[in-house]
Amino acid sequence: MSSSTLLPPTILILAILSLSFAGNVAEPAGCSADFATLAHQNNLSTNCKKLRTLGAELGWNYHHDSTNFTHIDILFGAKLKLSESHPSGWLAWGVNPGPRPEMIGTKAIIGIVHENGTMIVKTYEITNETKIGCRLLPGALGGIRVTDEKISYDDKTEFYTVFARLNLPSDGYNIAKLNHVWQVGYAVDNGVEPKKHPITLQNVDSSETIDLTSGNGRSTSQHLKSLREVHGVLCIVGWGTLLPIGVIGARYFKVSPFQKEWWFDLHIICQSSGYLIGTAGWAIGLWLGHASRYYFFYTHRVLAIFIFTLATLQILALRLRPNVKDPYRKYWNMYHHFVGYATLVLIFINIFRGISILRGGDAWKWVFVGILAFLGAVTLALEVFNWAQFLIGKLQKKNQKPNEDAAEKKESGKVQPAPSPINMSVF
Ligand code: HEM
Ligand SMILES: *[C@@H]1O[C@H](CO)[C@@H](O)[C@H](O)[C@H]1NC(C)=O
Ligand SMILES: *[C@@H]1O[C@H](CO)[C@@H](O)[C@H](O)[C@H]1NC(C)=O
Ligand SMILES: *[C@@H]1O[C@H](CO)[C@@H](O)[C@H](O)[C@H]1NC(C)=O
Ligand SMILES: *[C@@H]1O[C@H](CO)[C@@H](O)[C@H](O)[C@H]1NC(C)=O
Repeated sequence: MSSSTLLPPTILILAILSLSFAGNVAEPAGCSADFATLAHQNNLSTNCKKLRTLGAELGWNYHHDSTNFTHIDILFGAKLKLSESHPSGWLAWGVNPGPRPEMIGTKAIIGIVHENGTMIVKTYEITNETKIGCRLLPGALGGIRVTDEKISYDDKTEFYTVFARLNLPSDGYNIAKLNHVWQVGYAVDNGVEPKKHPITLQNVDSSETIDLTSGNGRSTSQHLKSLREVHGVLCIVGWGTLLPIGVIGARYFKVSPFQKEWWFDLHIICQSSGYLIGTAGWAIGLWLGHASRYYFFYTHRVLAIFIFTLATLQILALRLRPNVKDPYRKYWNMYHHFVGYATLVLIFINIFRGISILRGGDAWKWVFVGILAFLGAVTLALEVFNWAQFLIGKLQKKNQKPNEDAAEKKESGKVQPAPSPINMSVF
């Protein structure tokens, strides 16, 4: 058997996974029907766009006038998830005259929803001090005039929307290359002070350079998004699918319930291809972690390093494997099984962590839950079968006469009488 036998199924899995994520990769055109009606009510039906993150959408209109200003009307909408634990919140949209679409330097219009249901909207200059936790207080925006700002809630669509008219000076703001930023947060102080928003991928990917004349957005993190998906698929296939299949092969096809010669080939092929594919995903993950200026997912990274280290140890330990007859082989097996199972547990935890960081929709979660459910069902069936075989074997033994029993025992070098339900012992 060569590793090429495994290539077709691997490609198939990759193809299925990439198909199911294809919907996420495409940039959505226009905006949702719900938001479109709201934009229409504000006379902003010509230009409308779903923003990439936080479920936010933007509708706008613009016209130049003779005085070197561009007037733009915007309607920014997001669905704040307010609840008992988050009774108040804020939604923000802003433009950044700096070189990059980023939080610091943004001139923002922020709508605040209070616990008692009152809503206000004000303008804020976001500085480097804001980021390190200084109070963010309302004030006029330098260089920009903002008028007609208002905030509303539409209970049919559950959108909170902020409307505003901006007067952008032509020097400093190019509407074909406008840096804009959006955000939502769930804490407010003193009625007018938005407090720090969550720091998830969605919250830090919420900026882009937009061409208001066409609606096309360019974001620095677009290529990161595809790489994150590649990282996720490789890790799910390598660590999350092939390695467990190899373990199932070793556990149930080595001795009982089915003794198959090919168990070792299956085990080696699954573990080595899983390790290679998983390591490729891991390396991309390390690169992603290195590339993100703004955030750092501590648990995900630490678990990933553990997983890679343990898996590498498993492979290296093969070279130290004592001969079958060696008395130390027992301890090697215990070690190998213990590290193997522990690694699987860490892998499953970390894949779910990764999926929750990505927040790329439920497709990821359900694909992986599907894989786990399938592997779990196979394991359960084999385990039940294993026990049934053991119990039947035991019953038969009881009915045998003692001398026959002894005779059988002598022979047992050849026959495997399933002496214990887990006769290859977990550890
Ligand atoms: C209210 C006070 C705020 C605080 C304390 C705060 C704090 C932070 C922090 C700590 C980060 C993580 C990045 C890092 O670790 O370097 C961040 C990122 C970010 N924040 Fe805020 N933030 C606030 C308000 C806002 C507002 C109002 C907006 C939008 C108008 C916004 C938009 C962003 C964006 C787009 C990022 C991604 C990284 C970047 O562009 O710098 N933040 N913020
Ligand atoms: C939309 O346009 C109509 C007609 O021009 C006007 O009466 C109405 O006030 C406008 N609505 C808003 C929100 O600007
Ligand atoms: C508009 O800008 C140009 C070049 O920056 C300048 O020459 C002109 O005087 C400006 N017009 C007005 C009305 O400010
Ligand atoms: C923030 O920026 C100002 C001006 O660019 C600079 O003087 C100040 O030291 C910066 N503060 C921090 C905390 O980086
Ligand atoms: C609601 O709460 C805010 C902030 O605590 C306060 O400024 C406002 O006056 C309250 N409105 C009403 C109607 O009680």
